[in-house]
Amino acid sequence: MKPLFIIGYMACGKTTFGQALAEATGLKFIDLDHIIEERQNASIREIFAEKGEDGFREIERDMLHEVASLHDTIISCGGGTPCFFNNMDHMNSQGTTLWLQTSEERLFSRLIVKRHTRPLLADRTDNEIRDLIKKQLEARSPFYSRASIIWHGDLLENRREIDDNISAFLKAFPILPANQARSRPLFSSQIRKMLLTKLQKTPTSQTN
Ligand code: S3P
Repeated sequence: MKPLFIIGYMACGKTTFGQALAEATGLKFIDLDHIIEERQNASIREIFAEKGEDGFREIERDMLHEVASLHDTIISCGGGTPCFFNNMDHMNSQGTTLWLQTSEERLFSRLIVKRHTRPLLADRTDNEIRDLIKKQLEARSPFYSRASIIWHGDLLENRREIDDNISAFLKAFPILPANQARSRPLFSSQIRKMLLTKLQKTPTSQTN
């Protein structure tokens, strides 16, 4: 299967949704920001501080191109990934894109508690964060809305909501990896060997 790119604004639920979808389907999950941090041996905040946003966007594009060839993988992108260079075109040509569309209110309530992990928010007041979400959503939505699937990300607040959300998603999009987990071997290789030996010993026909 070609990769599934999850896109959307910061805190829209990309990691939560992506990890739960990976668990339900047996697909791999990767987070583009984590891959960048590993490769650069620095946190996203440090990369912004050292190379500026322009430097970060170049690294982000290069890593996106690298991971876009992975198979059977769910890739959670950064909030800005689809909005720079031709990243959106690239993702649409390499796999399936899914926009997790989450309301401004929900984004705000999630982001005010996590602002310190995001360089674009770290030094802003609550009101400034509210304004930024509004402004950036306006600017970014034209990119996000080019995703091939749009799904709602408000209801991901606890395990129950996450599970319900994932099963509704898999029902609506069965072409996605939904059946992949079921196509994995039902038995471990040891049990399969045992069964095979047993079958080979069992006569296939009986004559009286
Ligand atoms: C950014 C979002 C972040 C991270 C960087 C820039 C953005 O990722 O890539 O801080 O421009 O919206 P998350 O969306 O995972 O927070």
